[in-house]
This record gives sequence, C-alpha cells and structure tokens, in this order.
Amino acid sequence: MSEMAKITANGSEIELPVIVGTENEKGIDISKLRSQSGLVTLDFGYKNTGSTTSAITFLNGEEGILRYRGYPIQQLAENSSFLEVAYLLIYGELPNQAELSEWDDSIGHHTLVHEDMKKFFEGYPSSAHPMGMLASMVCSLSAYYPESLNLNATDAEKMKTIRRLIAKMPTLVAWIYKKSKGHPFMYPTNKLDYVSNFMKMTFGYPTENYEVDPVVVEAMNKLLILHADHEQNCSTSTVRIVGSSQANLYASIAAGITALWGPLHGGANQKVIEMLEAIKADGGNSDKYIEKAKDKNDPFRLMGFGHRVYKNFDPRAQIIKSSADKILGKMGINDPVLDIAKKLEESALKDDYFVSRKLFPNVDFYSGIIYRALGFSTDMFTALFALGRLPGWIAQWKEMLDQKQPIGRPRQIYIGEKERNYVPIEKR
Ligand code: SDX
Repeated sequence: MSEMAKITANGSEIELPVIVGTENEKGIDISKLRSQSGLVTLDFGYKNTGSTTSAITFLNGEEGILRYRGYPIQQLAENSSFLEVAYLLIYGELPNQAELSEWDDSIGHHTLVHEDMKKFFEGYPSSAHPMGMLASMVCSLSAYYPESLNLNATDAEKMKTIRRLIAKMPTLVAWIYKKSKGHPFMYPTNKLDYVSNFMKMTFGYPTENYEVDPVVVEAMNKLLILHADHEQNCSTSTVRIVGSSQANLYASIAAGITALWGPLHGGANQKVIEMLEAIKADGGNSDKYIEKAKDKNDPFRLMGFGHRVYKNFDPRAQIIKSSADKILGKMGINDPVLDIAKKLEESALKDDYFVSRKLFPNVDFYSGIIYRALGFSTDMFTALFALGRLPGWIAQWKEMLDQKQPIGRPRQIYIGEKERNYVPIEKR
C-alpha cells in the first residue's frame, strides 16, 4: 500500500497517493484533487510542482548530481561523444559499436538543408539574433518534410524525422553564423565526425583547407554533452507542452528554442560575457558588481549565478570551469574576463547574500569563455546551447508521446472582476 497524503481543506478531508521515484524522490499525485475536493493547486513558476514522471535525466540539486539515463555527467563528459550521448538520451541505452556506427552513418545522410531554405537567410539582416533565425529555420523544416506532420507515423518514420533534425541542426547553426558574418555558407563534409563537421561549416571557407583542431573538437564535444539535457527546465517543459497538443517535432523544438532564448535561461551565457566585458571596461572592479547584484534597487543581476534546482553547485559549471583553464592554456589564450569571472565567484562564495540564497555559478557562468576562445561571437552562444540541448528536447518530446500524456492545460485562480453588464460607450 503506497503512502498517502492527507489534505483537509474546503470542508473536506481527502487522501492522495504519494508516489516514490527510483531515487526516492516523493511527490503527491494530485490527479484526483479537484474531483475529490474542488480544489486546485497554485504554484507560480512551478517551483514545487512536478509536471511528469521521466526516466531520462536525474538531478539532485542539494548534492549537485546530474545523470543522463543513470550515467553520471562527469563520466559522460570525460569518456563519451556528443552523438553517443544523443543516442543514450533518445534510446535509453548506450549504443554498441554497430548501433553507434549506424546512428552516425544515418545522421551523416541528412546533414544537407534544402537549397530553397537558403532564401530564408537572404531575408534576414546580418544583425538578426541567431536564436530568432534558428527558431524559424527549425520550424520551417516541417514545410520540406510534411511526413513530420503525420500523427500516425510509424516509430521508424518518427525516428527518421528525429535523425533529420539532429543532422541538420549543425548545418543551420553554422549557416546562421556565416550569415552574421556575411561569409559564404559551407556545405557539410560527411566523412568528418559530427562536431568536426560543424566546426568546419562554421569556421571553414570554400577557398581554404580547414584543419580540424582536436583540442577544439574535444572542448566542443564536452560542452555539447554538458548541455544535452536537464530534466524539466523552462525550454524542455515548453517542448513537452507544445508537443502535447500533437504539434509536430519541428514546431515543438522551435518553441523550445524560443524559450531558451530568454536571459534568465539559456540566454544567460551571452549575458554573462557581456557582463564580464562591462566589468572589465569599468576597471575590473568585481567587488563593485557584487554589491550591485545585492542591491535590490539596482536592476543588475550576477548573470550565470543561481539556479532553481542546484543549491550547492552546478556540476556542469565545475567541469566547464576546469575545462576553461585547460582549453585556454592549450590554445595559448589569456582571456582577462576569465580572471574577472573567477574573482566574482570567489567574492560571491564568501558573501552571505549569495551563500544564504544558495547562489552559485551555473552552467552559463564559464561556458561563454570557452565558446569565445573557440572563435564564436557572443550572440551565437545561446544557439550553441540549443545545439547541445537538442537531443534532450527530442528525448523528452518522445517520452511524452510514448507516455500518451494528455494535452497540457494548467488551471488558474481567477482574481479579476465579478460579473458585470456591458456599458454602451456613450455612458462610460
Ligand atoms: C539555465 O532550470 C534549468 O535547469 C536551467 C538550466 C538548464 O540546463 O536548462 O540549468 C540552464 O537556465 C541556468 C540559469 C541561467 N540564468 C542565469 O544565470 C540568470 C541569473 N540567475 C537568475 O535570474 C536566477 O538565479 C534563476 C532564474 C536562475 C533562478 O531563479 P529562481 O529560482 O526563480 O530564484 P529567484 O529569482 O526567486 O531568486 C531567489 C533570490 C532572490 O532574492 P530574494 O527575493 O530572496 O531577496 O536570489 C536572488 C533573487 O533576487 N537572486 C539573485 C540572482 N539569482 C537569484 N541575485 C543576484 N544575482 C542573481 N543571479
């Protein structure tokens, strides 16, 4: 018999089942709350509300644990490749060699983007934000692959739509970068691995032989792995709720891209670098900005700090911070904003304002320093976050469909006017 939770309110006492997850997380299943009591719950920002069960990613915010399908993020970042992690998230198991080769090969056959889509890029100014272009390009893929709209698609057809998107995302992100620079687009080189192919399309030129740098490829693989999934964050919840209306995969992922764009979410990685640059330009006085972040009358926030779930440390930030030192060292880059970032972290972690609110560096605090060292412009950072998060969004979208979840439609508590009669304009 499962544990029950008792709720006494609204003149009734009801009992609701408590469900227990694999890692002993407990939740009250309120599916029958309204029918048994007339009550709904209210939870701005869903800080205490679970939207689903899921077998994809496990987080423990207090202990700084992050696992994809049970595998610790530290082991995947050290030993795996991004495409292997994408397979793990979507299929649920690490692939054997034959499965990985088939996965690699099948994705390699879909890296081209329809030539007609190049016309979309012509319509954008070079100054267009990459995330706006990426969301519209991904959604537009449904125009070229109408089979993606088929609600009765077989699993094989669904997987083809999934593989197409994983294959084309690097091409789209690379072309968006080229558009921002006014440089010629590069076509995929499918004999290269996924990340090398992406780097060549981004930084290569038709007139030059692009040399793949293993240091750069290793760094990019690690960053993409660290961003691949993060349970029910804002953009993933967006993908799931859009997908729950039976909107197609491309539309659901495009919705996730737009949610990720926000500076409180994935857009923070761009804001962190802009913040660090502003502090550098202002003489590098990190203590001044620590005080600004604490001042409720000052709109300044320490971007890249704080997290809804992690309350001791973000394991991804720890890996990225140590990687930043290694990568910049290997590339012979001395970036002064890295020192400013470290000084900010050191000061904040000794300051009661941050410690009492459990505010620590999150995944976005150091990632931009590496992206910049790899040659990306700042406004590309969130598009790189989206490239990494894609397999996680897809896995979560697929799980929601496999679970046959109902369309997402939260309740509310109405606080507006009571009933009143229409007043003709001459009497207002
Ligand atoms: C991502 O959810 C995920 O998993 C997201 C993500 C993923 O992989 O998908 O991990 C990726 O989005 C990381 C977060 C990136 N965003 C930022 O770095 C933006 C800066 N951080 C914040 O705005 C904030 O910390 C959030 C949005 C991350 C979390 O916000 P919460 O959980 O709603 O917390 P809150 O805003 O209610 O803050 C609690 C307190 C408040 O102070 P008090 O009202 O208690 O006095 O902490 C303060 C906040 O003012 N606070 C900050 C702060 N973050 C929170 N004060 C200064 N600087 C900050 N960065």
